[in-house]
Amino acid sequence: MITTPMDPERARWVGTGIPPRLRGITLNDLAATGEADAKALAMSRSFVEQYRSQQDKNWRGIPTNPNLYGRGLMFAGPPGTGKTTMAAAVLCELRRRYGVSVYQSRFGDHVERKIKAMKAGADTDPEQLSRWTYAIERTEWADVVLLDDVGHEHITDSKYAEDVLDQLLRQRYDEGRPTLLTTNLSGTDWAQRYSRALRSFMDQCTRRSIFVGESLRRADA
Ligand SMILES: Nc1ncnc2c1ncn2[C@@H]1O[C@H](COP(=O)(O)OP(=O)(O)OP(=O)(O)O)[C@@H](O)[C@H]1O
Ligand SMILES: [Mg+2]
Repeated sequence: MITTPMDPERARWVGTGIPPRLRGITLNDLAATGEADAKALAMSRSFVEQYRSQQDKNWRGIPTNPNLYGRGLMFAGPPGTGKTTMAAAVLCELRRRYGVSVYQSRFGDHVERKIKAMKAGADTDPEQLSRWTYAIERTEWADVVLLDDVGHEHITDSKYAEDVLDQLLRQRYDEGRPTLLTTNLSGTDWAQRYSRALRSFMDQCTRRSIFVGESLRRADA
């Protein structure tokens, strides 16, 4: 059997869900362009700096900072303002500095995988099923997860996606695992999309930063 050794740098990021163009990116890289949202950058920096102390537990296994324990970040703002890039940089820094397990997924993709895994039957390719299951488990259990583009998932009458979001955030928060969220919904769209109870819980389990400024996508200009 011929085996090709995997490039070590690639191997380091496989299984994190972080897209190749963002792997290994740092907050300093973003600061260097002078275009990053200043408040969000400061909040991200302190989150990374204080991660250990916010997650600290005493000798009895009780969080020493119960108000911060398991709390994540929410980046809201218009398209193209750098939310995904900054959230991915937070994941990369946490992973590099503390060796924690991280995972990134568009929230809509997570919902799709849950549905496909649920509907899987005898005709489902087992390898495909195990890839979905892997991704679902990482999203539920990685130390820190980025749910990207919340609000872009398909809406159904059964509100399945909202239930998944509600359950996932509560389960992760109860386990003390911070979740990072990005969204470009604002104001009334946000309020129409999610129940008051879920929005209130999102405020409890994250700190929010609203991105301001113009789109950084050259093509949008
Ligand atoms: N600090 C920065 N300096 C310069 N360019 C940046 C910076 N952050 C992000 N960009 C660039 O801006 C573009 C948009 O970034 P990104 O995808 O992170 O935005 P977003 O807020 O997540 O957008 P959306 O709401 O559409 O998902 C990308 O091409 C990215 O490379
Ligand atoms: Mg984005």
